Amino acid sequence: MQKKVPGTRDILPEEALFWQELEKISRDIFTLYNYKEIRTPLIEGASLFNRSLGESTEIVQKQMFLIKNKEELYALRPEGTASIVRAYIENNLDKTARFRKFYYFGPMFRLERPQRGRLRQFHHIGCEAIGSLDPDLDVEVIALADSLLKAFSVKDYKIKINSLGSLKDKKELIALLNKKLKSKLSALCADCKTRFKKNILRILDCKNDNCLKVISGLEIDDSYLCSQSREHFSRVKAGLDALSINYEVTPYLVRGLDYYTHTVFEIVHKDLGAQDALGAGGRYDNLVKELGGPEAGAIGFAFGVERLLIAQGLRGAFGVKSLIYLIGLGEQAKQYCRVLLDELRSNKISCDTDYENKSLKGAMRQANDLQVRFVLIIGDDELKKGIITLKDMHSSTQEEVKKEELMRLLKERLKC
Ligand code: HAM
Repeated sequence: MQKKVPGTRDILPEEALFWQELEKISRDIFTLYNYKEIRTPLIEGASLFNRSLGESTEIVQKQMFLIKNKEELYALRPEGTASIVRAYIENNLDKTARFRKFYYFGPMFRLERPQRGRLRQFHHIGCEAIGSLDPDLDVEVIALADSLLKAFSVKDYKIKINSLGSLKDKKELIALLNKKLKSKLSALCADCKTRFKKNILRILDCKNDNCLKVISGLEIDDSYLCSQSREHFSRVKAGLDALSINYEVTPYLVRGLDYYTHTVFEIVHKDLGAQDALGAGGRYDNLVKELGGPEAGAIGFAFGVERLLIAQGLRGAFGVKSLIYLIGLGEQAKQYCRVLLDELRSNKISCDTDYENKSLKGAMRQANDLQVRFVLIIGDDELKKGIITLKDMHSSTQEEVKKEELMRLLKERLKC
């Protein structure tokens, strides 16, 4: 038997209902905040990610799905931000309106060791606001993430925020870490010894017990931030306070991608175990310029859909439960059912029937399994009398309805 690739999942129809609902809620909320959908290709030139995420990041070093095509090296996108910045520049979007707000859904690919909440093909719901340095935009983006979680009925999450400052401040932080960690290298795990040379900020994310001890003794405060960066961060915090959004300033939150500056944030949830980030984001004020575009501050975030569904526990009984099920007893009645199905669908009423020649009992069991709202039973007798038996599956009552009354009655009861 052919099996799926490790770290990928089939989203079967019952679960797909939850995905549709998450997307629908997201579209509504993004629209409230005036974000517009963007769809970019799943493959990009690999160099896009090397340049934006950073050569020494774990994603670029170890996790890219690469495709060689003659002289070209492509990558399955590991995230959306770099692609959207590329699209913003390549399509000259800044020429018509420099400030743009985008949202997106879609699969991302990272060659990771699969475990609960960590897949090789996973999905993002995210947004990017490009073209502004205003700290109020940071507040809007974090508030938007918070609104989405509330609308998804996710509870008990925590928003952690920090500031990396400007590029210069970030370099200062790196130098500070270098100085403090140099004498403690022997106590760090093998990965962190490599990170010390290649991507020192990542040491602050290490979960190894020994590394955690070293990190907790580092005593790094926010002295690496210049006064402007400090002012920016204060305005972000004040804005979040004004909106009563709960957050926790987390000094060692640095994020794994090179493009981040100033505000970074991560939203964690206790039900997720080791992979506890539901979503994350931050500012990337230099990326647009670095990829060949204009000077344009930007900020965004992405949620991992699979993790949202774990945290939400697939609660909420999503899904359309207004299906009508038709049961035709006898050849003539079956023929009539086919016409009626067509008529119902033309009236935007979703309906189905039995295609397996089930008995009345079997067809009723099927209707039950499908959790339909109403069942219409039509036998030769009913046909002769011009009536249809309408069974309400919520109240378990049934009545006889005149054919010509049926559509009006159903529309009334389904409120459509
Ligand atoms: P990220 O932290 O790499 O950020 O990914 C965002 C979220 O995607 C994570 O918090 C997690 O929920 C989910 N995720 C990441 N990797 C996996 C995986 N292997 N399996 C399942 N879920 C995963 C970004 O990608 C940035 N582009 C976010 C951003 C947007 N920053 C600014 N704008």
